[in-house]
Amino acid sequence: LSDAEKDSRRSQASLIILDELEFDANVVTTPLVFAIIVAAASQFLVGYNTGVMNAPEKVVFPGHSTGAWSLAVAAFAVGGPFGAFVGGKMADKRGRRGALLIDTWTFLAGGILQTFAWDMYTIIIARFVIGFASGYSSVLVPVYLGELAPPTLRGMLGTLTQFALVTGILVADLLAFPFATERGWRVLFAVTVVVAGVQLICAPFLLESPRWLLGRDPNSLKARYIIKKLRGLRHDHEVETEVGLFVMGGAAQRQEDASTTVVLREMWNHSRLRVLLLSSLMLQAAQQLSGINAVFYYSTAFFDGVIDNPLLGTTIVGAVNVLATYAALLLMDRVGRKTLILWSSGGMLLACVVIVLSLLDYFGHIMALVAVNVYVCFFEIGLGPIPWLIVAEMFEAKYVAVAMSVSSQLNWACNFIIGLIFPYMNNYLGPYSFVPFAVVLLITFIFTWTVLPETQGTTPGELAAEMTRRNSMSVVYEANTDNAGAIDLEWRKAMEQL
Ligand code: GLC
Repeated sequence: LSDAEKDSRRSQASLIILDELEFDANVVTTPLVFAIIVAAASQFLVGYNTGVMNAPEKVVFPGHSTGAWSLAVAAFAVGGPFGAFVGGKMADKRGRRGALLIDTWTFLAGGILQTFAWDMYTIIIARFVIGFASGYSSVLVPVYLGELAPPTLRGMLGTLTQFALVTGILVADLLAFPFATERGWRVLFAVTVVVAGVQLICAPFLLESPRWLLGRDPNSLKARYIIKKLRGLRHDHEVETEVGLFVMGGAAQRQEDASTTVVLREMWNHSRLRVLLLSSLMLQAAQQLSGINAVFYYSTAFFDGVIDNPLLGTTIVGAVNVLATYAALLLMDRVGRKTLILWSSGGMLLACVVIVLSLLDYFGHIMALVAVNVYVCFFEIGLGPIPWLIVAEMFEAKYVAVAMSVSSQLNWACNFIIGLIFPYMNNYLGPYSFVPFAVVLLITFIFTWTVLPETQGTTPGELAAEMTRRNSMSVVYEANTDNAGAIDLEWRKAMEQL
């Protein structure tokens, strides 16, 4: 065969494969939507409880000390890393669905304790329990949705968990207007109980992650049944193609009951996994150390003296945050992860510079308000959602829960540190308090540019080029070495047949 003929046959073969995969491309079925809503409700609760303590300080058990209140606020981020640790373990042991149920019960228990609290100590304990449930959720929900999602929607669904979270923050800001009162504050806390209660009612109808089931048993009939319902498939051969994508891609390796340390050591000794692990840790740390929660915890104080109604300023930031996350939903499956993180860290860095210059009176304070909103917008198109969703994309089933758990623990620990030290940074550094964040953002930008693997680039060989030409399908397998491996195999088989 001449080279030209080979080329033409090659592209025919790839088109056949792509057409065969077409059924998989954009399927949104009722069981999938249902799972998304129920699982995302947990992330809504994470956001809600991030924002809920912002306003009611003066009305909840009036007369409490400042120390008691800060402890109640911080107890949330203390519970987070513990929850992240347990969440990863439970996700592997009980399955993603079973683990989600435990999470919901925990939210419910914390919510009830907080709603019927009899003193500040009860509030502190309840905040710890809710923080635990939140850390747990931040590990579990991205893994669960990442595994249920068809590849075309993976980025969007990952961002959806962030969307649920920021909506939670905004709802807490808005409900503060009517309910942050001496008579109404228990209603603010009861929202957690109501949402968790509805989740519990829906939970029996949730589907288990087929990827987890196949990880335990590649012959699992249950997994096949779920895939059929989840993807709305009619034919068994279509189901087997889907199963094949999991199994051939190595996603469904047997899960041994290896301890976290053993799995971590294994990852560390493998150079490709080591880079991925370091990248996910770096991104999670950068997300928090770039100072985002300094804004969400302290914006009211920050806006004091800048605008007349600081609470309104906080709500504006909350609303802009939701809009920016919506934009991210649209962008996420169109633009590569690496590109978005570069835009995100670069834009946040510039916004930090403007914040500092405004506070130094170069531009006037109102510009600081604008710059904070710009900073939040850039956060949400990259550093906000991507560190959470990229972990589920980077690692196969055997490693994903451990990687997610370890990186989330780091995230929550950094969250706690910023929550604790920002008031001091503000006191000592004054208008320069955003400078350390700018430094972190600069390092993040350089790291992303030089080290972060462009997951799109890991798609192997000629088929990658072919898929890039067929734009829609190139996005499908971007960032997913498992599927890329699977398709590579398909490709080879088809070539052999030719
Ligand atoms: C991310 C962070 C979280 C932060 C939120 C703000 O999800 O993990 O800590 O509060 O973004 O939108």
